[in-house]
Amino acid sequence: MNKDDIRKVKRSYSRCFIGDKNLIDGFYDVFLASHPDIAEMFKNTDFMQQKLLLRQGINCMIMFAEGVFAGNFCLEEIRISHNKKHINIHPNYYPFWKNSLLSSLKKYDPQFNDELLELWNQTIDKGIKYISDGY
Ligand code: HEM
Repeated sequence: MNKDDIRKVKRSYSRCFIGDKNLIDGFYDVFLASHPDIAEMFKNTDFMQQKLLLRQGINCMIMFAEGVFAGNFCLEEIRISHNKKHINIHPNYYPFWKNSLLSSLKKYDPQFNDELLELWNQTIDKGIKYISDGY
């Protein structure tokens, strides 16, 4: 992805945090309902904290797609925390994460379009591959 592509993804992401309810709130509604195992995994989660961490985690994913060092550094943390030895997130669950994020982006970015769908697909696929390869 070139600089211009990354700029478009970053702007799209910022537009999702303008209203009272934002992309991350919407994301967890969809993600938890997407699979019964997933709701179970988050039954003891402090969502105030989790939402802040995910907001930052998606920023990491964007930086990772951009190819900057900080992106590798922070995605590496998630790659470790989600592996078999830690919270043990099997790679089969990542498509639920991706679909939940894409549907929330469509809902919360008022300027979402086909080009952004393609750019977000590339950003998310790259990050998910890196995280799930560490399983
Ligand atoms: C590539 C996509 C994902 C990203 C960027 C992401 C990001 C994060 C972050 C930043 C945290 C908190 C800090 C940490 O543990 O590292 C977290 C925790 C967690 N994630 Fe993910 N995650 C992803 C995919 C998933 C999937 C697919 C699942 C389950 C199906 C999942 C389940 C969890 C759980 C259970 C926690 C711990 C919640 C708690 O502390 O109670 N994550 N995730």
